[in-house]
Amino acid sequence: MPKILITEPIPDDVIDYLKNFASVTVGDKGTYQSEEALIRDIPEYDGLLCMLSTPVSETVLKAGQNLKVIANFAVGYDNIDVEAAHDLGIKVANTPDVLTEACGDYAMGLLLALSRKFKEAEQYLRDGKFAGWEPLGFLGMELRDRTLGIIGMGRIGQAFADRARAFGMKIIYHNRTRVDEETEQELKAEFIADHKELAQRADVLSLNCPLTEETHHLVNKELLDSMPEHALLINISRGAVIDEAALAQALHQNQIAGAALDVFEEEPKVHPDLLTAPNTLLLPHIASATHRTRKDIGMLAAEAITSVLEGKADSEIPNLISR
Ligand code: GLV
Ligand code: GLV
Repeated sequence: MPKILITEPIPDDVIDYLKNFASVTVGDKGTYQSEEALIRDIPEYDGLLCMLSTPVSETVLKAGQNLKVIANFAVGYDNIDVEAAHDLGIKVANTPDVLTEACGDYAMGLLLALSRKFKEAEQYLRDGKFAGWEPLGFLGMELRDRTLGIIGMGRIGQAFADRARAFGMKIIYHNRTRVDEETEQELKAEFIADHKELAQRADVLSLNCPLTEETHHLVNKELLDSMPEHALLINISRGAVIDEAALAQALHQNQIAGAALDVFEEEPKVHPDLLTAPNTLLLPHIASATHRTRKDIGMLAAEAITSVLEGKADSEIPNLISR
């Protein structure tokens, strides 16, 4: 029987499903967030179902002498050295689509919470400061006719755009390749070739791109400088798309009006200057965290693993990442 390592506890249905095909080990929470633990244990496994917090480096891959397939319990897979995996003949899969709607909802939720100051206002009430209705208390940004600038117009970017349109927002976007005309028309989305122009025109700037060499620190001091003072920044992609030190400074100096961050450069660490920044919502990487989505993510990852272990053709393996 093949052996599968699941690096963190995931929904039981998924584990039970995998047990029909293989002997399954589930790591305790946090055990496999270091390379050392992986290098120690990986040699005996044929399949790895890992998290975005599992560092699957070239060294880990080389230690996995029996490893045939890795399925990431996430759509983003910057934690895996995919090129090294391919060189070693190990297949890699991710889990797109199933989390799109949950992430679209979440981005909209962050925008509403941020633009209407939910966090500060609630804290004010809990602190016993609410002394009657105030005409000038907690005034925020109204969304109708405001411009949402999206960097990364893939499935999740589009799902956010779709929701923002329902709130009357205008959509501008940048993507590595322009999206098809039909989608542009449906979302009334305008393609902007230049990041700086996008940042200048957006009342809300949202990051929905994968982390790659090109997007690393894409939001740096220069880009932040070009954002309007009333602008809000939302990041549900990967922390390192933002230069956190530069963002913290921009927030402390009120160069932009606020940020909602679900992801961080060095999770689970959060830059100390972000913790003290004004109008900043900090959340523990939960954009896809719904019961339904997390189960669907697990099943999709599991199916990729069983398909490979059953010797299916690449074309029959869900969401295989190609070279
Ligand atoms: C979550 O961040 C994911 O990539 O699925
Ligand atoms: C606010 O509560 C209003 O009635 O305008």
